[in-house]
Amino acid sequence: MGTEQKATNIVWHQATVSKSEREQINGHRGATLWLTGLSGSGKSTIANILEKMLWERGVRSYVLDGDNVRHGLNKDLGFSDQDRNENIRRIGEVAKLFTEAGVMTVTAFISPFRQDRDRVREIMNDGDFIEIYVKCDLDECEKRDPKGLYKKARSGEIKEFTGISSPYEEPERAEIVLENTAKTAEQSADEILAYLESNGYLA
Ligand code: ADX
Repeated sequence: MGTEQKATNIVWHQATVSKSEREQINGHRGATLWLTGLSGSGKSTIANILEKMLWERGVRSYVLDGDNVRHGLNKDLGFSDQDRNENIRRIGEVAKLFTEAGVMTVTAFISPFRQDRDRVREIMNDGDFIEIYVKCDLDECEKRDPKGLYKKARSGEIKEFTGISSPYEEPERAEIVLENTAKTAEQSADEILAYLESNGYLA
């Protein structure tokens, strides 16, 4: 939904400053680190620790977080399948803009549907989209329940809750899988940093 071109008589204007010129000045590549996983799996925590690590190394970074973006840009969207599609479509486009601007963009959205995540991958250049599965058992997420939402979902107070009454489709070709049930958020952030280093994103 929402992907068809509605406006006519619009012409793409080529940017004067290219992405690679921006990357040269920045001294690192622009890319999107797409964290996906259940609520309570640790996406936001890892994203923020990672951003601090990147920032300390002089990397221009920015975190786009589900709960925050839903207060602004996506405040008109709920949690039906269709609204989640649109949530991820918009975030994908925003992440693409940040990436084109040369920023190391970290997104933290449940993004439960494989097709939605794959669509974001498709609109990005090769290598610009790094899918990171923050893998954490539902039992563990439910035990943590940092916002008390699982409890409400179990009691039926919250409908269409991911993992309980709405599906989560695991990634099949994630660049990084973080086994976050047994790991600290710092260890997971280190793992992402190591990936960026060994794949030439920070050089
Ligand atoms: S997504 O599925 O569309 O990617 P998103 O990451 O933006 O979700 O928002 C998820 C956050 O919204 C959760 O961390 C939780 O705090 C809150 N939330 C509220 N209702 C729900 C629900 N029904 N399912 C999942 N998360 C919910």
